Amino acid sequence: MRLTDPILIAALAELAVERREGASIGALTSLEIGGVSDLLIVHDSRHLPELLRRLSGCGIAHRFLGGGSNVLVMDGELPWIMIKLAGRTPDVTIEGQSVLVEATADLGRTVTFCAKNDLGGMEGLIGVPGSVGGALRMNAGAYGTQIGTFVREVEVYRAASQQIETLRGEQISFAYRHTSFAPDDIMLRVRLELPRKPYADVVRDIRVSNEKRRASQPMNQKSAGCIFKNPPGGSAGRMIDGLGLKGFGVGDARVSDRHANFFVNAGQATAREMLALIDSVRERVHTAHGVSLEEEVIVWST
Ligand code: EPU
Repeated sequence: MRLTDPILIAALAELAVERREGASIGALTSLEIGGVSDLLIVHDSRHLPELLRRLSGCGIAHRFLGGGSNVLVMDGELPWIMIKLAGRTPDVTIEGQSVLVEATADLGRTVTFCAKNDLGGMEGLIGVPGSVGGALRMNAGAYGTQIGTFVREVEVYRAASQQIETLRGEQISFAYRHTSFAPDDIMLRVRLELPRKPYADVVRDIRVSNEKRRASQPMNQKSAGCIFKNPPGGSAGRMIDGLGLKGFGVGDARVSDRHANFFVNAGQATAREMLALIDSVRERVHTAHGVSLEEEVIVWST
């Protein structure tokens, strides 16, 4: 979607918002799939409520893009204006065991920054791509660690109240790849509380996580991590692999040869191809196991 309202366009500068016309949104995602839209980059989140009020006043649909590592964006001209928060440096402030992080901060860099300050706990999350905000929204987890465990406070823009609010950790529920945040809540910053752990020990455990991940997941291919959530008590990857589907594809959308719950863009895959692959694999798993796999990746289609 393109912004055409001259009054709105003129107002962007005073709200510290930068406009990139006709931006390739796919290029901002780890799958490198997705169409085109105007992109608004917000340089000061305090202006976010006003920006969103103005957009909705003009009846303009919008979507927020975080780190882009767990989203499958539809092809073609997108029916939404895209909004992204600009990253900030430095984006992590540490006081004792309390760590204040901007939602735009890279998750892996945050884990290593905390390590340098002798704070651990999140080593398992080291290879999870994307931003702290994205990890928080879906309670990202790996190797027995979930980010929700460490959350003390979250500053969030709530579409329901059109305000920036601060929620205490106890007010948010975290479950497997799920949180109680509303779909249109926008993560702004989070305060984590991490256990003290000597740098050398954190680094050792980071290495262990990295090695496990390198041995079992396609690290250098275009993917959105696991496509499906694991069903209760089961493993989506093992089920798909058991059906001999590694390497199976629709166009350039393929089931990874390394981990069957990772679907990769092996070239110029489109969202249409990736969605066809997701449906086809889900149907085969359902036929074989009677289990309907639920997507973990967030699909943006109309
Ligand atoms: N397996 C196979 N074939 C495969 C993949 C897995 O047989 O192609 C088997 C493995 O040998 C193992 C079992 O399935 O016995 C489980 O596999 P794995 O340890 O790789 O864990 P997973 O359940 O597939 C989950 C998370 C990952 C996370 C890893 C490590 C989900 C959907 N996936 O994978 O998270 O990195 O554990 O903790 O919960 C993500 O969320 O995007 C993600 C990749």
